[in-house]
Amino acid sequence: MTRAAITAIAGYLPDYILTNQELEKMVDTTDEWIMTRTGIKERRILREPGKATSDMGAAAVLELCKKRGISPDEIELLICATVTGDLVFPATANIICDKIGAKNAWSYDLGAACSGFLYSLVTGAQFIQSGTYKKVVIVGADKMSSIIDYTDRATCVIFGDGAGAVLLEPTTENVGIQDFILRTDGSGCQHLHMKAGGSLMPPTHQTVDERLHYVHQEGQAVFKHAVYNMAEVSAEIMEKNKLSSNDISWLVPHQANKRIIDATANRMGVGPEKVMMNIEKYGNTTAGTIPLLLWDYEKKLKKGDNLIMAAFGGGFTWGSVWLKWAYDPK
Ligand code: UT7
Repeated sequence: MTRAAITAIAGYLPDYILTNQELEKMVDTTDEWIMTRTGIKERRILREPGKATSDMGAAAVLELCKKRGISPDEIELLICATVTGDLVFPATANIICDKIGAKNAWSYDLGAACSGFLYSLVTGAQFIQSGTYKKVVIVGADKMSSIIDYTDRATCVIFGDGAGAVLLEPTTENVGIQDFILRTDGSGCQHLHMKAGGSLMPPTHQTVDERLHYVHQEGQAVFKHAVYNMAEVSAEIMEKNKLSSNDISWLVPHQANKRIIDATANRMGVGPEKVMMNIEKYGNTTAGTIPLLLWDYEKKLKKGDNLIMAAFGGGFTWGSVWLKWAYDPK
C-alpha cells in the first residue's frame, strides 16, 4: 500500500516582533489579559513594503528543497493554503511557483482558514496515494496583519504572520498519513469572516470608511465551537483507529488560543509534555500554525511517532489527521 509521507519540513517567519507591550500602546489591553486569555506573548509581522504571503511561502519552499536536496523543477504539484493571498486572483500558489522556479508544477490555492493546512495536506496526499505524483508540496501561509484592524483589541492581539511548507512523497513503509476526519459547517460563517472585498460586497469608499476589510470575529461564539469540535474530532480519530493516549506521541494543534489547545489535550487524555505549542512566540498564523509547529519540533520527532494534528477555523472548518512521522532527526 502506498502512503503519503512528510519527508521534509521548512518554515519562514518575518523578523519583526510585535510584543504585548507594544500592543498595550496601540489599544486598551494588557500583557496580563492577553497571556491569561490566549497564551500569546508576541507575534511576527511582515512589515517590508511590497512583501506578501507568496514571499513567505517561497522562502519556506526554497528551504524545503534545499533540506531535501531537490530542485524546485522536481515539484509536480504545489497547494497553498491561505486566506490572505497576494491578490484576489491569480492564486498565490502560482506566484510562489514562479518565484522559486518550479517550472514543472501546477498549483492552486485552498481557502479553509485555520484548517487550510490540514485540508491541503489531505488533498495533496490523494495525488501521492493514487500513484499520480511523487513530489507534492503543501504550503500554509498567511500575512494576517494585512486583514487585521489594529484598533480592534479583540482581534489584533491574536494574529501573526508566517509560513510553513512540507514535502509529500510516496512510501510503502507503515509511515505517513494513516487517517483523517475533515468537517465543514457553513452556518458558522456569521461568526468569523471578512465582510467586504468579495463578490457580495465589492470594495467601495464606504466599505473602507466602515472598516469592513478586516477580520470580523465574534470571539466567544467561535471559542465555544472551537473548544468542542477540535476536542471531539481529535477524540473521534483516536476511537476510530483504536488509539489510546499512550499510543500518541504528539498532539499538533492549531495555535488559536492556549485554552482551546488545553481542552483538546484533556479530551484526548494527553499530558502537556506531548503537546506541541509555540503560540507564545507566533500567535495565530492561520494556515501557518501546524507546519510551523512541525518545523519547530522537527528535532524531537522520531520515525514511527504517532502525531494527531487538529484544527478549527473560519467556515466553520475543522478536522484531525493521524500521521506516523517518517524519519529520525538528522
Ligand atoms: O483560529 C481561528 C478560530 N479562532 C479562534 O479559535 C478564536 C476563539 N476565540 C478566542 O480565542 C477568545 O474568544 C478571544 C481570545 C478572542 C477573546 O477571549 P474571551 O475570553 O472570549 O473574551 P470575550 O470576548 O468574552 O471578552 C471578555 C472581556 C470583554 O469585556 P467586557 O465586555 O466583559 O467588559 C472584552 O471587551 O474582555 C474584553 N476584551 C479585552 N480586554 C483586554 C476583549 N479583548 C481584549 C483585550 N484586552 N485584547
